[in-house]
Amino acid sequence: MESLVARVYFKTDDVTHEVEDGTPLIDFCDEVDVSLSFGCTEGTCGVCEVTVVEGRDNVSRITDEEKDYLLPEDLEEGMRLGCQVKVRKGEVTLRWKKVKAK
Ligand code: FES
Repeated sequence: MESLVARVYFKTDDVTHEVEDGTPLIDFCDEVDVSLSFGCTEGTCGVCEVTVVEGRDNVSRITDEEKDYLLPEDLEEGMRLGCQVKVRKGEVTLRWKKVKAK
């Protein structure tokens, strides 16, 4: 049997990618070649800010680092730190502010 896959739609770049359930976002962003950038990878720089447009229940819980860095109203709107997010299941749509030209 194949393991379960989640589908991630990178709205900003119009790219869809399928990953095994439970995969950290940062693990496959390079592979997918999307313009979402990472810096510290520890939840302290904010470079990887991303908004979960759809499928908020399909990603991992908000970490303490994200609670420290992001404002409650941003969290409310689905904003996350990409380096802290794992894709759990199903379909997830992400968008972010483009900083790096592709
Ligand atoms: S890469 Fe720095 S907060 Fe995510």
